[in-house]
Amino acid sequence: MMNKTTKKLRAQDSGNSEKETQTPKPSIRNPKSILVTGGAGFIGSEFVRQAVKKNSRVVVIDKLTYAGDLERIKGATEKVTFYKADITNKEFIEHIFEKEKPDVVVHFAAESHVDRSIIDAAPFIKTNIEGTQVLLDAAKRLWLSKEGFGMKDLGFRVKDLGVEDSGDMDKSNQKPIFINIATDEVYGELGVNGQFYETTPLNPNSPYSVSKTSADMLGRAYFRTFGLPVITLRPSNNYGYWQYPEKLIPVVILKALNNEKIPVYGKGENIREWLYVADCVEAILSVIEKGKPGEIYNIGSGFEKKNIDVVKSILRILNKSEDLITFVKDRPGHDFRYSLNTDKINNEIGWCAKTDFETGMEMTVKWYLDNMDWVNKKLDYLRRYWEVVYSSI
Ligand SMILES: NC(=O)c1ccc[n+]([C@@H]2O[C@H](COP(=O)([O-])OP(=O)(O)OC[C@H]3O[C@@H](n4cnc5c(N)ncnc54)[C@H](O)[C@@H]3O)[C@@H](O)[C@H]2O)c1
Repeated sequence: MMNKTTKKLRAQDSGNSEKETQTPKPSIRNPKSILVTGGAGFIGSEFVRQAVKKNSRVVVIDKLTYAGDLERIKGATEKVTFYKADITNKEFIEHIFEKEKPDVVVHFAAESHVDRSIIDAAPFIKTNIEGTQVLLDAAKRLWLSKEGFGMKDLGFRVKDLGVEDSGDMDKSNQKPIFINIATDEVYGELGVNGQFYETTPLNPNSPYSVSKTSADMLGRAYFRTFGLPVITLRPSNNYGYWQYPEKLIPVVILKALNNEKIPVYGKGENIREWLYVADCVEAILSVIEKGKPGEIYNIGSGFEKKNIDVVKSILRILNKSEDLITFVKDRPGHDFRYSLNTDKINNEIGWCAKTDFETGMEMTVKWYLDNMDWVNKKLDYLRRYWEVVYSSI
């Protein structure tokens, strides 16, 4: 396994040497109206908060499932147009695209929790695959169709979309783009060594990751088949403020605060690459500005941690005993390790994760301590859910 220091240095080295021969490309896209699906979710809401600060016009579509919560964007609502809508509802989604005419779509909406996909895969197939297809079709109709409502109004022609670089900077900053948020889980798992590159063959293992892989591939098919300007992003595990407390880090914080047993799958040896959510969103915003249609970019931090070490670092911050840790039956099909190579986004986009794991984790724990009212509202629902998932505690 590559340790974080080695990987970060390596990424910076290759970034620097690359810069000597190739200056970073100038900003090529300046969005007028960004449509965000899943904008009331964990990462989507961080995107909305940051985009609003940049004065972008933001339209949010969210079904507000158990995982969605408008409280996450309450500070931004004046600048956001919100639609409570299911992305699988073709007529309504087309209506929204027609009315709002976004020039950027950032597609986060998904069923996002692997454990839930093991209990019931059906909503994952419906939302993640069918929902993505509905959105791609709506964008295709808006941006590409002759009788469509968008291209003429927006002043684009198909050949201006940037599928082939025209080199015309005046036009190119208006180019629309569909950002398809995938995941590192599309690649499957690694052993102790190696990394996933954007070219690594996809080999997903859980119903969640299979549904995300299908959505990822659909986006690329729409680029290849229709010339729809799609960029695919594959981030690693995010953590930070406002994460729904069913995912590892908030579960540990919450259980530790209540002096409850902390469930850890297997022996806690599985390794994930932890990316601070604000950094992930900065990467997405940078790709909107500078990314090329048809491209795939990994978004990782280089901070690889065993699950057990993540748990221990939270316990340390909270000054709680490691005796709270309880090993539970491993998740079926549990991927051992993910690790992303990020040379491409470092060199071509000029983005690199800023927040080291310890700092990010301290800020995250503090946020949960300061926002227990929000977390406690989720507790009744969560306790019923935990009974099903961690039944062996
Ligand atoms: N959280 C991570 O660590 C991580 C890592 C890599 C990739 N991703 C991907 O990033 C995206 C966002 O993840 P997240 O952690 O913020 O998820 P999340 O579960 O916190 O949020 C998902 C949002 O989508 C909404 N939604 C669900 N089904 C919908 C539907 N049918 N129509 C409209 N809205 C719907 C929910 O209400 C919620 O607001 C997902 O696509 C996920 O697969 C997440």
